[in-house]
Amino acid sequence: MYTRRWFFDELAHAGREHLDPHYVAAYDGKAGTDVVEEVALLRDLGLNERSMLVDLGAGTGTLALAAAPHCRRVVAVDVSRAMLDMLNTKAVRLGMANVECVQAGFLSYEHRGEMADYVYSRNALHHLPDFWKALALERVAGILKSDGILRLRDLAFACDQDEVDRVIENWLASAAERPDKGWTRAELEAHLREEYSTFSWLLEPMLERSGFEIRQTSYGTASVYAAYICAKHRS
Ligand SMILES: C[S@@+](CC[C@H](N)C(=O)[O-])C[C@H]1O[C@@H](n2cnc3c(N)ncnc32)[C@H](O)[C@@H]1O
Repeated sequence: MYTRRWFFDELAHAGREHLDPHYVAAYDGKAGTDVVEEVALLRDLGLNERSMLVDLGAGTGTLALAAAPHCRRVVAVDVSRAMLDMLNTKAVRLGMANVECVQAGFLSYEHRGEMADYVYSRNALHHLPDFWKALALERVAGILKSDGILRLRDLAFACDQDEVDRVIENWLASAAERPDKGWTRAELEAHLREEYSTFSWLLEPMLERSGFEIRQTSYGTASVYAAYICAKHRS
């Protein structure tokens, strides 16, 4: 299917900035992501030295590299060459030989070898419109072992349509003042215009229809982020 002319162009929708080495070089400072709790959560869910984890839309590898010492193999997948070059540089510096980088997208990644125990994805799925999200999630289920775990975090609106204006204005009001400190109002507005954050109440049926049982859901206080622990149904 990937060769069809009507297929979604993941690179064209990856966000121009994510392909830019200068932006990528400053990304970790801007994002300021602390993954300690996420790694602890994965370990609570059973991640161990026998596990294989795939991180989809891995970016500079903050989660992939923090999880790698606790598992056997990590595959970090991203459409952006610049992101993967940064991830690879960090992996080499840290001496992490069990992290493999693959340049591909949710829709084009071809998983090889054993099925994954865990799939992780943070703040990346919103680069796909809903039709393609649904197809991507079905592909994610295809990567995982039966009972395997998907930890999905993304920008998703946990509110009704008539609350959108209020929720978004509150979110924009909390934006960073400077781009090196986080996402500014202009960047969040561009996200809303150009990317595909959806409603949590659309995303959840997509997960279920793709073969997942949602075991835990949490929405940030601002109702603009959703985080799920999902288990692939036994086949
Ligand atoms: C906001 S960053 C998040 C990176 C990382 N997951 C994190 O939490 O720091 C979004 C990432 O998704 C990647 N991306 C965009 N579209 C993608 C797609 N269709 N498939 C895989 N990765 C994609 C971008 O290149 C970028 O690295």
